[in-house]
Amino acid sequence: MKVYLDNAATTPLSKEVLDEMLPYLTEHFGNPSSIHSYGRKAKAAVEKARKVVAKYLNASTAEVFFTGSGTEASNTIIKCSVRDLGVKRIITSRIEHHCVLHSVETMAHEGIQVDYVKLDEKGRVDLNDLENLLKTSDKKTLVSLMHANNEIGTMLNLEAVAEICKMHQAIFHSDTVQTIGYFPFDVQKMKIHFLSGSAHKFHGPKGVGFIYINGEAAIKPFIDGGAQERNMRAGTENVYGIVGLGKALELALEYGDENKKYISGLKHYMMDKLKTEIEGVDFNGDISDEGSNYKVLSVSLPSCEKAELTLFNLDMAGVAASGGSACSSGSEKGSHVLEAIGANPNRKAVRFSFSKYNTKEEIDYAVSVVKKMIAPVLPIPVI
Ligand SMILES: Cc1ncc(COP(=O)(O)O)c(C=O)c1O
Repeated sequence: MKVYLDNAATTPLSKEVLDEMLPYLTEHFGNPSSIHSYGRKAKAAVEKARKVVAKYLNASTAEVFFTGSGTEASNTIIKCSVRDLGVKRIITSRIEHHCVLHSVETMAHEGIQVDYVKLDEKGRVDLNDLENLLKTSDKKTLVSLMHANNEIGTMLNLEAVAEICKMHQAIFHSDTVQTIGYFPFDVQKMKIHFLSGSAHKFHGPKGVGFIYINGEAAIKPFIDGGAQERNMRAGTENVYGIVGLGKALELALEYGDENKKYISGLKHYMMDKLKTEIEGVDFNGDISDEGSNYKVLSVSLPSCEKAELTLFNLDMAGVAASGGSACSSGSEKGSHVLEAIGANPNRKAVRFSFSKYNTKEEIDYAVSVVKKMIAPVLPIPVI
């Protein structure tokens, strides 16, 4: 049996998405910048996808820009905010994705002050600490905090953070790569300047993402070149990728509630099964329905020799998941997220992440494999 439970890493492309993309890989191959019919056909497809993104966010189409990835989106936001908006200080957290953390580190090397907000043991942002940090300085500040953590699923209260940022005139970016396509968004309801999204996380193709840029946050291009994306992101558009992103988000809009119910059912099913069948199992991050991403479950396995080989053994048994542990020594490269929340380095973490294509039978199988792997070896009775 082959079971894919690594949907926070990437998701399979939907058949409907592929069908929508295929004509743009074949007969509709025009360059959207060309003014002839081939170009216009491609341009119309890009603009149709932009409308879907704008509708999903309740934004204007003028605020949506396609990029080559979620990583590019966050790099653009962070680096261009410093260059173009007078940002002199960045507040972020230690559990951000590396596309944010490393961009912030690059800015720190250029003299930008960086502060890391306090987190609790579940990876929740301490909002009082955020407020205090904002109160302590008059420097123009960018707050960059992810909506849902990709390793442990803990979520941020976007509205609350947006409100705090507004009170202190800070610019607010949220890496929403793990939540776009899974949660409703309404940028009219909160003051948020930037969001980043990535199609392959919601059954779209890889290599295409987008940035939401609030009209008030006028940054200049990160990539210089042609006038594509209304002068915001140069380079011939990944037309079939953008078409796929649009279709995938359209499906997410249409079936979002249904999918959420189904996927969170799978997560609860796995949590219950693991708890009842494996002694000493625990979970990393916030596992409450309100505080966590319903598609991610980070399982903390009791420490034992076999737990070390968990991912390898799961893979051998046909189950794809991701893993990590907090570093136990300085030389070992563990998960920066588990380390930041103070997870026990002796326990192995396995991240299972679900999609609409998973089934309870697959969960049963995955749990049976974990159980077999870490079951205590009983001493052979001496007769
Ligand atoms: C939270 C988060 N941000 C950003 C990214 C990067 O997105 P992309 O793969 O499109 O570069 C990922 C992907 O792993 C992610 O999980």
